[in-house]
Formats: sequence, structure tokens, C-alpha cells
Amino acid sequence: MALSKAASLRRHSFESSPLPHTPTPRRFTASAPLTGTMRVPGDKSISHRSLMLGALAVGKTTIRGLLEGEDVLATAAAMRAMGATIDRSEDGMWTVHGVGVGGLLQPGRALDMGNSGTSTRLLMGVVASHGITAAFTGDASLSRRPMGRVIDPLSQMGASFTASPGGTLPLMMQGSLPAVPITYRLPVASAQVKSAILLAGLNTPGITTVIEPVPTRDHSERMLRGFGATLDIEDIDGERHIRIHGDAELTPQDIVVPGDPSSAAFFIVAALLVPGSDLVIENVGLNPTRAGIVTVLRAMGGSIEELNPRTVGGEPVADLRVRHSALTGIEVDPALAPSMIDEFPVLFVAAAMAEGRTITSGLEELRVKESDRLAAMAAALAQAGARITETEDGLIIDGTGGEPLEGGGPITTHLDHRIAMSMAVAGLISAKGVEVDDTRPIATSFPTFEALLAERTL
Ligand code: S3P
Repeated sequence: MALSKAASLRRHSFESSPLPHTPTPRRFTASAPLTGTMRVPGDKSISHRSLMLGALAVGKTTIRGLLEGEDVLATAAAMRAMGATIDRSEDGMWTVHGVGVGGLLQPGRALDMGNSGTSTRLLMGVVASHGITAAFTGDASLSRRPMGRVIDPLSQMGASFTASPGGTLPLMMQGSLPAVPITYRLPVASAQVKSAILLAGLNTPGITTVIEPVPTRDHSERMLRGFGATLDIEDIDGERHIRIHGDAELTPQDIVVPGDPSSAAFFIVAALLVPGSDLVIENVGLNPTRAGIVTVLRAMGGSIEELNPRTVGGEPVADLRVRHSALTGIEVDPALAPSMIDEFPVLFVAAAMAEGRTITSGLEELRVKESDRLAAMAAALAQAGARITETEDGLIIDGTGGEPLEGGGPITTHLDHRIAMSMAVAGLISAKGVEVDDTRPIATSFPTFEALLAERTL
């Protein structure tokens, strides 16, 4: 007898292997050229949203190319705790059986968000317009990050919160049913805050409006439309007005997640810096609200060629051919910051090897990421022998003009995956190597980073 499709898929619940309890230090040393062809894992932002929207649709959503990093798995666990059925088949496809907008259940235990700000802030939005209570907890890094930026608008919509001092985790929230539609102008350029409000708006009667003075990544808007929500976007006096129509019904989708440009950035910079490199990174998402790093590295003289441009999962994608290049320092336009907000740590590494001075500014948001990335990168790069001046809202870097950095360490990563990976890249172009104090956080966004690096630098 033929097996049913469901049985033949042999679905199982995906559990990542637990991280070691003690820090895992590692020294990254001078590298052979990066050559050949590679792929990076799926986009983290799109992966989170696929699981959340799949859980809020009625019926079965499939997801290919989901990032199986700790942050995304935290979102999957939370959606399961609120009633969605989420499985992974052996070929790596994920399925989500959603409960429908308004159908989430009260979670039976605290939602452990680990290191993930995106999971936390977006899920707070989801919970805000359901009649349920949820507790959010996280690791030491996440527990320091400001949640007031979502508590404020979601409180206006009727949700109530008991947060730890300073508006941080752990926190307990009670959603509001019905919630109240609001019009909210974002005081900080944050896709997480925008998305939290739009997700809350799904189960709110009437129209909820977010006004975005500075555009941020637009994956939520694209995907909400893809799932069948009604969303109007209008430019008024240079600001984006995004209106979501409430009491939405979402239709399940078959999603293909493009490669994460933020993960690709580590390999782009590595290939630009390591002499002799000529690397193709396939299937990199190049949504204009994410691709600032490519613009800036090209302006510094980086050879980055886009091959085979196409659309994957409603997002522009291309293969990137990156060749070793002599970089020149520039003044980075602060208006580009939102489109490369996660890429500054690795840009600072590129700048440290460039000819002349690179000036960055308008980056105060970097101080409230997984770590204070301005302070952490200033300290780390100085330890590795780079010439760095930290300002209130940026770094000024005088590059070596292509000479290797001296190296050193151990670098303190502060539970921040992007500090660890950026300094790993710095190690590749250093005389003595760079020791990173703890590589465990890399698994939050790019669990295959070290294996891919080893493969490409053989
Ligand atoms: C993200 C938005 C950004 C980014 C984060 C992912 C998202 O955060 O830094 O890694 O998926 O919406 P902010 O909204 O705080 O800028």
C-alpha cells in the first residue's frame, strides 16, 4: 500500500543540538584565498516572519530554505507553544499548520526568546491583539535590550505590560481583545517596531497605520501582502504611511527563503580582503532595504558583481562574484544605515584594511543591538591592532592600506554573533591571528559559518 504523503514525509520535530555551557574560544588565523562557489543559509528576518505568518494563516504553509539558527528556532518553539503545529521533514522543508488570525492559544509556560530581539518584539506584536497572557524571557544580552519601543505603541493599542526595570525582559504581557487601531509615527528607524505594530493590526478592527520617516527593511509588508492581508502603502511628504486592514484572514503559502545578505556580508568582506580571493556566493537576497553593504563596499573599491539576477520568494536575489580588491576609506552616508544596520561590524573590519580614513556616523542604534556594537567593535579592532576612534554615534577608522592587522585577543564578543563573526574575518587578514573568546553565539544566526569558512579557505 502506498504511504500517505504525510507518512512518507516522516516528519519530526526539529531540535537543535544544545549549545555547550561554557564559552568556546577559537583563534582565527591568516587564510588561503577564498575561492569556488558557496551558499549562505536562509534570511533570518524572512525566516521569522514565515513561521509567524504561517502560524496565523488557516491551513498548511510550507517553507524551504528556512534558517535553522537558534533565533528562528526560538520563534518556532513560541508559535508551537501558542497552538501552531510546526514540523521539519528530512529534506529540510518545514510545514506550519496555522491556527488563523485570532486563534492563538495561551502559552502554558514562559516563551524563551534566547538571544533573539526579532522574535521578542514581533511576537509581542502578535500577542498584543490576542486575548492571552504571555511571559517573555531571554538570555543576558536580550535582557538588557530596550522593549519600551514596542511597549509604547502596543500599550496604545490596549495591551498591558509588566516589564523589568528599564522596560526590559523578563516581562509579562496581556493582549487586548479587541485591540484599538492606532496611527503611530516611528520614533526610531526600526523594522522590528514597525512589524510588531503591523502584526498586532492583523487582529485589530479597522485600520492600523505606521508612519515611517526613514524606510527600514520591508519584508513584513511584502509577506503580509503575499499571505493575502490588505496593506496600503503611500508616500506622503517623504514618509511612508503603511496601513494594515484589520480582522484579516491569511491564506497559507509555499515560501522559498532567499539567502541572508547579512550572513553573506562576512564572506563578501573576507573575499575582498584576503589576497587572491575570487568567490561566488549564490542566491543572496538583495532587497534594496537590505543591500546597503554592497553599495558601500563598491564605493570603497570592492569588486562585487551581480550574476543571474532573479526573484525568489518575492525578493530580488542574485549570485555575487567577489574578488580581492584594494579598498579605500570613505565617509559612509548615514542615510544608508537602516539598509545595512547589521553589517556595520564587518564593514568596520573592511575599513580597518582600507587605504585612508573611513568615517561612520548616525549609528546610535548599534548601541542597543545584541551588544553595544560601537564599543564592542572599537575595543575588538583596537586589540587586533587597528586604529579606531569611537564617537557618540559612529567609528572613525584609519586603515592599514592592505597590510595585515597585527592580531591578538581574546576578543570579548558579549554574546553577540556578529562581533564573533566579524572578528573571525579580521583573523583571516592578521599576522598573529585573532582569538575570539566565545564562538557559541554564532549559532543564533549562522550555524554553518565555521564549516563554510573552513571549506572555502582550504
Ligand atoms: C530586524 C530588524 C533590525 C535588525 C535585526 C532584524 C527584523 O532590528 O537589526 O537583526 O527582522 O525586523 P531593528 O528593528 O532594531 O533595527
